[in-house]
Amino acid sequence: MKEKVYVFDTTLRDGEQVPGCQLNTIEKIEVAKALESLGVDIIEAGFPISSPGDFNSVVEISKAVREPVICGLTRAVEKDIEVAADALQYAERPRIHTGIGTSYYHIIYKLNSTQDKILERAVAAVKYAKKFVEDIEFYAEDAGRTDNKYLAKVIQAVIKAGATVVNIPDTTGYTLPEEFGAKIKYLKDHVENIDDAIISTHCHNDLGMATANTMTGIINGARQVEVTINGIGERAGNTSLEEVVMILKSRKHLKLYTDINSKRILKTSRLVSNLMRMPVQPNKAIVGRNAFAHSSGIHQDGVIKRRENYEIIDPRAVGINESSIVLTARSGRAALKHRIGLLGYKLSKDKLDNLYHEFLEVADNKKEVNDEDLKVLVGKEKRGPRSIELKSLQVTCGINSIPTATVTLEIQGESFTESAIGNGPIDASFTAVKKIVNKKVRLEEFLIQAITRGSNDLGKVHVQITHRGSTYYGFSANTDIITASVEAFVDALAQIV
Ligand code: KIV
Ligand code: ZN
Repeated sequence: MKEKVYVFDTTLRDGEQVPGCQLNTIEKIEVAKALESLGVDIIEAGFPISSPGDFNSVVEISKAVREPVICGLTRAVEKDIEVAADALQYAERPRIHTGIGTSYYHIIYKLNSTQDKILERAVAAVKYAKKFVEDIEFYAEDAGRTDNKYLAKVIQAVIKAGATVVNIPDTTGYTLPEEFGAKIKYLKDHVENIDDAIISTHCHNDLGMATANTMTGIINGARQVEVTINGIGERAGNTSLEEVVMILKSRKHLKLYTDINSKRILKTSRLVSNLMRMPVQPNKAIVGRNAFAHSSGIHQDGVIKRRENYEIIDPRAVGINESSIVLTARSGRAALKHRIGLLGYKLSKDKLDNLYHEFLEVADNKKEVNDEDLKVLVGKEKRGPRSIELKSLQVTCGINSIPTATVTLEIQGESFTESAIGNGPIDASFTAVKKIVNKKVRLEEFLIQAITRGSNDLGKVHVQITHRGSTYYGFSANTDIITASVEAFVDALAQIV
């Protein structure tokens, strides 16, 4: 039987504490709704006493999101708890998350107190919070650096006082995975009432071990994980939701699962990144732009032979449907064949060889060859030499000038040049072309598609013309949109000349 691991998302609390990542209430509701659709069990919506804005966000999220538990953070201070309870009054399932520092550093240098007094405050906070809501989570701040014997004493006492979840944060991201795992095991073995509460992990990433520590925590008995989308959070961040979820999904022998709809991971990651203006590093596990991108020829060949050769996760499982084969100058014929196959083209071996040479020329000039580039290359390869070719195009246009174009076409080996004016550079060019071709054609449709990716990408033009009752289509793509337009027009005309 598989056991469930509860996902407690703190993107809107620990994540939102990051400088520059602050969200307004409307944006927080948008993220909270996305987290609900993603399937998180608990949303930590804020720290209500910290500001009126945070208070308001917890109120509004409690009203807008009904499925997950909504949690508000407090210190072990009565006023904090009262304010959190007030902010959570509309929540369908409210939780108060209260706690205090338990490490030597925190007790002596932050709280100027003693272990006994801290134990008393911890118990009192849980008992006080229990007067307002049933579901109380207690955090032992800096548990990672807290002596295990004292930690066990505190945890036993707060569970006795009514804590339903006990959070063991590695606040400073200091522990090694084996130490953190051993800490959770110690609590399992030494806290008499530990089975009356769920153990939670809350790991920070100061030494890059947040996910590893969370995993050893789970392996040793924790059944709730505190995580953030994209791993954002204080300093080096928190454990990232997507990493833990996909580890549990991929490593089936652990016999553990979450209720996360993994297909929504990428969408949620992008939403959080955009709203928080916090880019995701390209090599970030699971959600980075390159996480499923194969660019070297050997890897591409391996993935094409069988995806599992170089991919341990099917990209579709996290909502990525795009091809993972990135075409660069290092790609081989197999990768090119694969990508044009995905676009629906089948070429003979000879044509593929020709195409490969043209592809390498483009790849040498561009970092990455995309689908649009491929369509143009395949189009040229498939259609062979044209009856009309655009040989040169010169255009003048702009404010206070009459748009004028001079066009040279080669028709069946012979060159013709004409100039014309128009109401714009494209109109002038088309008129010059028509003067040369001298056929009665009607332009039925002319579609320029905006460039959406980068400034070095191609603009696409589709043209539809009619001639003697028949319809002809032309297409071209070029980084120069006027050239692309004339090429597309000529492409259509070439079919009737
Ligand atoms: O890192 C930490 O210890 C925290 C607590 C407030 C849970 O964020
Ligand atoms: Zn934290």
